[in-house]
Amino acid sequence: MTQRTERRSSRLSGFYQQPLADRLATVAAWAGLDEAEQSVLQGAGGLSLAQAEHMIENVVGLYALPLGIATNFLINGVDYLIPMVIEEPSVVAGVSYAAKLARAGGGFSTSADEPVMIGQIQVLDLDDLESAAQRLWAARERLLAEADCCDRTLVSLGGGARGLELRPFPHTPAGPMLVVHVLFDVRDAMGANAINTTCERLAPLIEEITGGRVNLRILSNLADRRKATATCLVPADALATGGMSGSQVVRGIVEAAAFAQVDPYRAATHNKGVMNGMDAVAIATGNDWRALEAGAHAWAAREGRYTSLTEWWEDEMGNLRGRIELPVAVGIVGGATRVHPVARVALKILGVRTASELAQVMAAVGLAQNLAAIRALATEGIQRGHMSLHARQIALAAGASEAEVNEVARRLVDEGQITAARAAEVLRELRERGR
Ligand code: MEV
Repeated sequence: MTQRTERRSSRLSGFYQQPLADRLATVAAWAGLDEAEQSVLQGAGGLSLAQAEHMIENVVGLYALPLGIATNFLINGVDYLIPMVIEEPSVVAGVSYAAKLARAGGGFSTSADEPVMIGQIQVLDLDDLESAAQRLWAARERLLAEADCCDRTLVSLGGGARGLELRPFPHTPAGPMLVVHVLFDVRDAMGANAINTTCERLAPLIEEITGGRVNLRILSNLADRRKATATCLVPADALATGGMSGSQVVRGIVEAAAFAQVDPYRAATHNKGVMNGMDAVAIATGNDWRALEAGAHAWAAREGRYTSLTEWWEDEMGNLRGRIELPVAVGIVGGATRVHPVARVALKILGVRTASELAQVMAAVGLAQNLAAIRALATEGIQRGHMSLHARQIALAAGASEAEVNEVARRLVDEGQITAARAAEVLRELRERGR
């Protein structure tokens, strides 16, 4: 990953307590956002109906979601503020807290494979799979050269065909089939278009060489040639809570990780927590989060049993260590990344210079989000965090002003009684005392 020279810190203490306008000003100064870019974040000049018309079919309107900023991320020695688009409370706060914990251990270390995607071409009606495979293998240079003709720009940027794989399936419900994999480096794109075009272009040649019939020509979302990895260390001391020592929390987190490793029922929820973070960054940056989800879950089941995407263990010093590795097929060019005005601003805030850098940031976010969830689950439970936001919403609905909302919400949470009726009473008491 590119090392930067700027000395900016994403450790923005008290950011969450600032009024929204101050938070925006902080981020704008941090990322150098101009007036127009700031208004895009505030809903003016965001995606227009006219742009939406060109994105999908049958458009009748737009749909807005909150965009929050995760703080405290230090990744390979570089500070990042991370835009996240999500409707769920506690995710942004949780991931920022986990990033602070990881920061205490030096931040995240990440790496990524080359951005190589897989295209699949399904060949049927073959008399002999073995000899068809041999003929394709013998013609591989010709096939790869043909693949490179699809996108000269990508090739000039250093991308292009990287290899061929042949996967015979002698017994399928539709008879024998040979699946051809084209490996293609898509550089800074997510690559779906490049791969699908390549597959369609190669199909007639593959039919000619094999004498078979091509059916599907499409990328695989199990992008296991394009994985990103993130690791972190959290000093045990940083994990101590009011009621638990750091080493007790480390143990609780390691036990939670073991639960997800052995039990698919838990792994599904554990991995949902990982994807809470990764999807939110994918949406903010205009990436295809369904592709990301498909790749992550298929990867989690690669050994025949669905399991955890992360590992957490205690090291010899008693500190917590974590690791994630998964396919991350995302881009910073093409698709909605440059069309959606908010995605453009989100990418500017992130400051990533390549798709590989974005993938690494997302892996770190996934690992952090998972840490936030299992730390909370292994200590006070997640409802407390959720409840304080819920209580704020109830307080606002009961008529609390901006100046009153925190106090009313705090009292509701402390009393464990988060109801509209109690919010109205607390508000009345507060105002009577203030007279
Ligand atoms: C909720 O959106 C995500 C969690 O359920 C993840 C987990 O259980 O690890 C909190």
